[in-house]
Amino acid sequence: MAIKTRITELFGIEHPIIQGGMHYVGFAEMAAAVSNAGGLGIITGLTQGTPANLAKEIARCREMTDKPFGVNLTFLPAVTPPDYPGFVDAIIKGGIKIVETAGNNPQKWLPGLKEAGVKVIHKCTSVRHSLKAEAIGCDAVSVDGFECGGHPGEDDVPNFILLPRAAEELKIPFVASGGMADGRSLMAALSLGAEGMNMGTRFIATKEAPVHENVKKALVAASELDTRLIMRPLRNTERVLNNDAVERLIAKEKELGDKLSFADIAAEVAGVYPRIMKHGEMDAGGWSCGMVAGLIHDVPTVKELIDRIMGEAEAILRKRLTPMFA
Ligand SMILES: Cc1cc2nc3c(=O)[nH]c(=O)nc-3n(C[C@H](O)[C@H](O)[C@H](O)COP(=O)(O)O)c2cc1C
Repeated sequence: MAIKTRITELFGIEHPIIQGGMHYVGFAEMAAAVSNAGGLGIITGLTQGTPANLAKEIARCREMTDKPFGVNLTFLPAVTPPDYPGFVDAIIKGGIKIVETAGNNPQKWLPGLKEAGVKVIHKCTSVRHSLKAEAIGCDAVSVDGFECGGHPGEDDVPNFILLPRAAEELKIPFVASGGMADGRSLMAALSLGAEGMNMGTRFIATKEAPVHENVKKALVAASELDTRLIMRPLRNTERVLNNDAVERLIAKEKELGDKLSFADIAAEVAGVYPRIMKHGEMDAGGWSCGMVAGLIHDVPTVKELIDRIMGEAEAILRKRLTPMFA
């Protein structure tokens, strides 16, 4: 069964399921596995460090799939910003036609991307940012609710409210992001007005995800109670899986209150991703993880996961919902 929506049409994909950019997870192996299974896989641009490495990663991904895949560009507040012009150039020269932007307003980069025929989906945690994305010419929005792994923003509006509010206001299509795990999520997302779903955390617990086994085990073991919000005093809130480093960090936040600066917590967050994702040092620092960890009970292949989601969605419609209306 296939579900056709404005999102599947826009991106030329079989299933309305996107794998959001994930630092030190979104390598070619991850993106290709999702795209080969009929979803939209996304390489995480900044993880590559330099535009030249991103160009190589795009070429590597192309060897693994002939289906569409995208690149995530996250615009972070940074003292020394990454080489964004170089990354955009690598994306365009690499023939990428889909870019997921996140973080700061991507307006500056849109003319160049559009001219190269690139479709842009911007990740937003509020209706007002989604409307802004629409106004500046983004093709679609990924609406990230409070449940999401990573940066949920500062409004704390969960998807049961955020998605229908986005549907009330937006003209461009959007996908539901944050807390999505299975066929129930997909059917709920479509019911609330989204035209597909974006998953982060769930895709990490798959056979192909190029991360240490300890990370996958931690996700299967975690419940919906095991995430924490960090860096709220810095207005850079991140939802992470709890661990020793996160508890240390939260203790510092409590102790220092308004006086907290990034330097105080750098040991718990700066440069920790390779240690966790590559080497499986699970207490090395805070790493993004959604509440959806509570819905992750196994480590299937990406294709098994996507086929299962589509099968569950159809069963919900035909076996559960339709008879209720009879
Ligand atoms: C480990 C991890 C790393 C992430 N890194 C990024 C990133 O670099 N850029 C970005 O835009 N989003 C990032 N995200 C957010 C995801 O793309 C996605 O929006 C989010 O995970 C959706 O919520 P979910 O985890 O509940 O599915 C990350 C998420 C996780 C779990």
